[in-house]
Amino acid sequence: MDSILVKGGGELHGQIPIAGAKNAALAQMPATLLCAEPLTLTNVPRLTDIRTMTRLLESLGTIVSQRDDSRTLELQTPEITDHKADYDIVRQMRASILVLGPMLARDGHAVVSLPGGCAIGARPVDLHLKGLEALGAELELRDGYVHARARGGLRGGTFVFPFVSVGATENLLMAASLCKGTTVLKNAAREPEIVDLARCLRAMGAHIDGEGSATLTIEGVDSLHAASHTVVTDRIELGTYMLAPAFTGGRVELLGGRLELVQAFAAKLSEAGVDIEETGNSLIVSRKNGRVSAVDVVTAPHPGFPTDLQAQMMALLCIAEGTSVLEERIFENRFMHAPELIRMGAVIDVHGGTATVTGVDKLRGAPVMATDLRASVSLILAGLAAKGETVVSRVYHLDRGYERVEEKLSACGATIERVHADG
Ligand code: EPZ
Repeated sequence: MDSILVKGGGELHGQIPIAGAKNAALAQMPATLLCAEPLTLTNVPRLTDIRTMTRLLESLGTIVSQRDDSRTLELQTPEITDHKADYDIVRQMRASILVLGPMLARDGHAVVSLPGGCAIGARPVDLHLKGLEALGAELELRDGYVHARARGGLRGGTFVFPFVSVGATENLLMAASLCKGTTVLKNAAREPEIVDLARCLRAMGAHIDGEGSATLTIEGVDSLHAASHTVVTDRIELGTYMLAPAFTGGRVELLGGRLELVQAFAAKLSEAGVDIEETGNSLIVSRKNGRVSAVDVVTAPHPGFPTDLQAQMMALLCIAEGTSVLEERIFENRFMHAPELIRMGAVIDVHGGTATVTGVDKLRGAPVMATDLRASVSLILAGLAAKGETVVSRVYHLDRGYERVEEKLSACGATIERVHADG
């Protein structure tokens, strides 16, 4: 298994291009199942998760072709040839559950494996299921699979989410696009990935109102048609690389970055003493001398501080001046990076969903390991500012969500390389 070797020290200076959003692309790809005509997605990142979704869709009957250096995907599903999403693929990636709503809406039946828990929490899919029931689906859980039927097709309805779920909002948005009648989703997720999915579906002919607010209204249509859509910039990749010069000092321009995608996060970074400037087509982040200041962080659904940047922010606060308190309110088990950061000399006290971080002058390089994507990258960032060498193993997590991380950082002067398992 590959690992990443980082040698700390030295400011970062340069430019980093930000890719299209993994989590937006993963939600838009299953939209192909809603219609027989082609859906062309551009600015798709080249990541393992995208390849996993491609394999899943191909197993259901989608023809997937890549163009232009593989950042453009053309997806076409003339018919769904197999309505079963198998455990073997679904267990690898939870976003696989997003094929359920579209298959059910188009053909009135689908069988999808339950994803099971994952490293960051139990992550049930009950809201996806309750929401689809509100649209008339009949569901049965059998042998680890959801067997779903909608005799006579799905019909519009009102569903009030008891709490915000990004994935369930996406599943329902897609399903409701082909329902008979009007669907109203209340307390819906407002993440930029939801807004981008609504735009993609609208390009396909869906009638959607209210994206970006807590109430989505979807007027069902009989059929959708061919469309092209460009995937929004990855706000989590953006935020991750905004942190890099905060660790090391220096000045880095994030190409394609926009403040509106990362408001709450950028506000915390500024509070910590990092300078952020918006140019129109990029963000420039710089930190001059001295340590950053401690700040308190509470994760929340958008427009709050994103859980997907909590690990990276915690790593920065390990070298801040003062004590910071981080509260993780989205996932119950998302502090697995803490013990690894402690191995690098960090002072962190975790109690349930709260971590208290007392900043130290310097972290020390160490062999570390991460059990999820954002935790892995937080250890790389910590390694950039640590004394000595850090080796982050199990980087397959990293490859699920970050494209060429070592190339992007070394282009700005970081000493970082991928060590291949056989070399
Ligand atoms: C999406 O996951 C993202 N994944 C996650 O990105 C992200 O952390 C998360 O949203 C929150 O922003 C993709 O978009 C592919 P949720 P999702 O449904 O949709 C609970 C990354 O690193 N819940 O908003 O699965 C759930 O357990 C990742 O890229 C239920 O209880 O998240 C969690 O505690 C990992 N029942 C909370 O709600 C449900 O039916 C929010 O989850 C659904 C969710």
